[in-house]
Amino acid sequence: LANGLGLTPQMGWNSWNHFNCKVDEKVIKETADALVSTGLAKLGYIYVNIAKWAQETEPELLFLTFPDDCWAEMHRDAKGNLLPKNSTFPSGIKALADYVHSKGLKLGIYSDAGQFTCSKTMPGSLGHEEQDAKTFASWGIDYLKYDNCYNDGTKPTVRYPVMTRALTKAGRPIFFSLCEWGDLHPALWGFKVGNSWRTTNDISDNWNSMLSIIDLNEVYADLARPGGWNDPDMLEVGNGGMKNNEYIAHFSLWAISKAPLLLGCDVRNLTKETFNIISNQEVIAVNQDSLGIQAKKVRMEGNSEIWAGPLSGNRVALVLLNRATVPHSITGNWDDIGIPENSVIEARDVWEHKTLETRFVGNLTANVEPHSCKMFVLKPIA
Ligand code: DGJ
Repeated sequence: LANGLGLTPQMGWNSWNHFNCKVDEKVIKETADALVSTGLAKLGYIYVNIAKWAQETEPELLFLTFPDDCWAEMHRDAKGNLLPKNSTFPSGIKALADYVHSKGLKLGIYSDAGQFTCSKTMPGSLGHEEQDAKTFASWGIDYLKYDNCYNDGTKPTVRYPVMTRALTKAGRPIFFSLCEWGDLHPALWGFKVGNSWRTTNDISDNWNSMLSIIDLNEVYADLARPGGWNDPDMLEVGNGGMKNNEYIAHFSLWAISKAPLLLGCDVRNLTKETFNIISNQEVIAVNQDSLGIQAKKVRMEGNSEIWAGPLSGNRVALVLLNRATVPHSITGNWDDIGIPENSVIEARDVWEHKTLETRFVGNLTANVEPHSCKMFVLKPIA
């Protein structure tokens, strides 16, 4: 969407994967505090600031926090306005936005292009688009995730653009995240309507779900670009359903796929392992690279896969993924990866934080543990 937002994939936190409907203003405030005190918020900002586009344009926020479903009362007020749920958001959303903004973060919110949201505990915005967009803007909202439950059966290509127009007129830049679950191939029409579009159904916190989701998302790689991103759903890193090596693969695949990096765990209680994954600046830099080109699965050999995509400065990001339950030696060939045949390559292992001493010509081979990946940034030196 040409609203100047989403020039790199959005980064932040959303309540749904960990808290479901058990979200309240205390959780949101404590999460905002934790994003700042852990240094995670700054990581997002640092990358925005050093990216080339950021020097040319206003740095946009990338770190945001927001309640997903269940934040409003079931009934609108007498004038038809949405009402924050009194039992969980007693101070109101405007006060919450002020608090979050005072921490240097942005606040997102959630609604639905139907009669109700998916939990059926609050109204959707269908038929109230302009009014709700104005309400969100008046509260200081910076981001809207827009779900697809309880719709009237008309096409999302009809319902979603109504909210796009409403947000455009609302008087405040609002990042628009389409949550249509990939039903009507939103990658084909999403760029004109929003800043990101879900390509799949909901992720679950396990290896098979994570892989099936990123596989589906990969099909649309050519359609992602600055201003509009394929969204394979929020991160499960830190929620406990996968092993550490599996979460590393999850984060690597999301990063190289230029997916939104929306944390979905409880950032108030991070383990060291989780923190090390989500705070890896070299991996985040791949995600936030100014070229904004989504990597592709360039070769599959059984359970061994090579994912690669171009980065700025003639560099290439590479993930060697082992989906098997036994170790594998995996080779990435320059021909598949898109590197000129005779190039001499320096390889940086972005999980080991080490530049390998070997110089590579023609290909790079690594041993990859079961349900794991290796991730490199490749730089031509001759
Ligand atoms: C479906 C979406 O895909 C999820 O991310 C979440 O927002 C739930 N709805 C909330 O009900």
